[in-house]
Amino acid sequence: MLTLSPTPTQLNSATGQRSHSLSEQLSQWRRHLHAHPELGFYEHNTARYIKSELEKMPHLKVSQPTETSVLAVLRGDKPGKTVLLRADIDALPIQEENTFDFVSQNPGVMHACGHDGHTAILLGVAKLLSEHPEDVTGEIRMIFQHAEEIGPGGAEELVQRTPLMDGVDVVTGLHLSSGLPTGTVAIKRGAFMASPDAFELTIQGKGGHAAHPNQTIDPIAIGAQVINNLQHIASRNTDPIDNIVVSVTYFHAGTTHNVIPDSAALAGTVRTFDPELRQQAPKLMERIIRGVCEAHGASYTFAYDLGYRAVINTDWVADTLMDIARREVGDKAVVAVPSMGGEDFSAYLTKAPGAYFNVGSGNTAQQSDFPHHHPRFTIDEDALMTGVVMLHEAAVELSK
Ligand code: NI
Repeated sequence: MLTLSPTPTQLNSATGQRSHSLSEQLSQWRRHLHAHPELGFYEHNTARYIKSELEKMPHLKVSQPTETSVLAVLRGDKPGKTVLLRADIDALPIQEENTFDFVSQNPGVMHACGHDGHTAILLGVAKLLSEHPEDVTGEIRMIFQHAEEIGPGGAEELVQRTPLMDGVDVVTGLHLSSGLPTGTVAIKRGAFMASPDAFELTIQGKGGHAAHPNQTIDPIAIGAQVINNLQHIASRNTDPIDNIVVSVTYFHAGTTHNVIPDSAALAGTVRTFDPELRQQAPKLMERIIRGVCEAHGASYTFAYDLGYRAVINTDWVADTLMDIARREVGDKAVVAVPSMGGEDFSAYLTKAPGAYFNVGSGNTAQQSDFPHHHPRFTIDEDALMTGVVMLHEAAVELSK
């Protein structure tokens, strides 16, 4: 049993003890990455840095499956399964407002989702595994994945265009969460993260003088009706037991107070866990849009873009992770609440069973509880060791 921080995070295995010696290194990696964030598909320096750190470690075969992703492979002495561990490495187009000394040096770009932490964690796992290859059976592939934040996403590219998933038996990965206290490990079976789809709608009416609306087809009034009626999808058109979000997040029309414009532009997002409901959603939406527009004499164009698939965890993998979490963090292992957020980790799950989970990094005293994608987002670095231990133990257990 080991105390790692003033708010004690206790990690119980031998790995937990070993990872303690890694803590400074983890923080150093994470801070370097935090200071040098790069956007998805442009992570050239990030990839170079990861590669050079991995090349310092023994027994690893390091390669670059795509221009800005890095893969490290460790083969165990004994036969076993092939396990894929995944960390995402990209940052966001946000101007950082933190003031610590490792603040982003790239204006307008920031690690505001914790991917700097994910990368440091997987480097830590690589270091532990490479120093103790006797822990490993089978093969451990560690993928430092580019472009999680930008659809269609780096995972899809790796799955479709590289042999990364060939022969993979099981996949896992984690996301730090500022919404959970540091040291918490949150895991669940089944539906974990939603499919984040997007839509765009243009309502074409007929503009004219605002004093004579009878001579116009008012796309703003019609747009308002469409928005109201779309709320019926979640409340009246789908089973209340199924989770669905339909949000209009954009409504632009008009230029001044006395002109009814020709058209209105709307956009938004639809989030579901159930693939069938996901297929139905655009049809339900278009029925409403068509009906309302026709009723008022307007026409429309409607475009619906499928985003990442939902993350649906495999039960037995989630159970294995939960057993590890209970052993390592005791009652800080909790059943996760599913999120309507999206994740391209789901691309890997089309090829192999697996599970994605959260590690808490929220600590009010350290002001690391700002929401993800906030200009003051940061992580409690004590969470890095929890992440290392979870992924390391998962690699060992799942490769057996
Ligand atoms: Ni993220």
